[in-house]
Amino acid sequence: MKKVLVTRGIFPEILAGLARRFEVEGNPDDRPWLPEELARRLEGKSGAMATVMDRFDEAILARCPDLKVISNIAVGYNNIDVPACTKRGIRVTNTPGVLDDTTADLTWSLLMAAARRIAEADAYVRRGDWKIAFGVQYFLGQDLHHATLGIIGMGRIGQAVARRARGFDMRVLYNNRSRLDAGTENALGAAYVKRDELLAQSDFVVVMAPYSPATHHLIGAAEIAKMKPTAILVNSARGGVVDDAALVDALKAGRIAGAGLDVFEGEPKLHPEYAKLSNVVLTPHIGSASRATRLVMCTTAAANMIAVLEGREPQDPVN
Ligand code: GLV
Repeated sequence: MKKVLVTRGIFPEILAGLARRFEVEGNPDDRPWLPEELARRLEGKSGAMATVMDRFDEAILARCPDLKVISNIAVGYNNIDVPACTKRGIRVTNTPGVLDDTTADLTWSLLMAAARRIAEADAYVRRGDWKIAFGVQYFLGQDLHHATLGIIGMGRIGQAVARRARGFDMRVLYNNRSRLDAGTENALGAAYVKRDELLAQSDFVVVMAPYSPATHHLIGAAEIAKMKPTAILVNSARGGVVDDAALVDALKAGRIAGAGLDVFEGEPKLHPEYAKLSNVVLTPHIGSASRATRLVMCTTAAANMIAVLEGREPQDPVN
């Protein structure tokens, strides 16, 4: 029987399905493993179901010659050195498509929370600071309706974000490596513009680009400087696409109005200033975290791993 490793705590029914085919080592405590422990546990394993927290670099791969497949429970795979896997004949798979709507929903949650200062207002009420029932100037925020939304990175999730803007009668601008076809642009009601124009015109800037060396600090001090002082920045894509230090400086100086962030450089460590700022809403990388979607992601990742180990082409190959 082939041996597989599941690096984090997942749904028991998925583990049970895997156990009918393989000898499965799981992680019922859901304790993240440091690289040394991950490498040790990978010894003798043919497959791994992993998360964005598990780094598969050359050093780890060199220690697991039996490994045939890494199935990421995620759409992103910047935790995996894909060329190194390809060189070693290791297949890499991901879970695209199944989390678009859920991640777009979370993106809007952050956008709306930042626009209407929900986290700040919630903390105020909980602290017992709400002493006078109504104030004409309490917690004044920004309107979403009829505002301009700029989306940087117009893949599947970016497009799902754009579709939701229709309900708020927003103008939608986007920038992407490649322009969408006219039919898709029309259906989304989204206009392609240069990145600088998007930054200058948008009331809300949503970053939806995957992380790669090319998108490292795609939004830094220079880009933030081009945004409106009333603008709100949302990043639910990947830490590192936004320069956290530059964003902290901008939020502290009031160069933009606010931010909503689900991902961070070096997470789970936060830039120490974020937690002190009231004009930022922070969530712990939960973009795809609805019960239904996480179940589908795990089912998909398991099916991808099974396919490779049974000699079939997986549904979602990365290499
Ligand atoms: C999560 O971050 C993912 O890439 O699916």
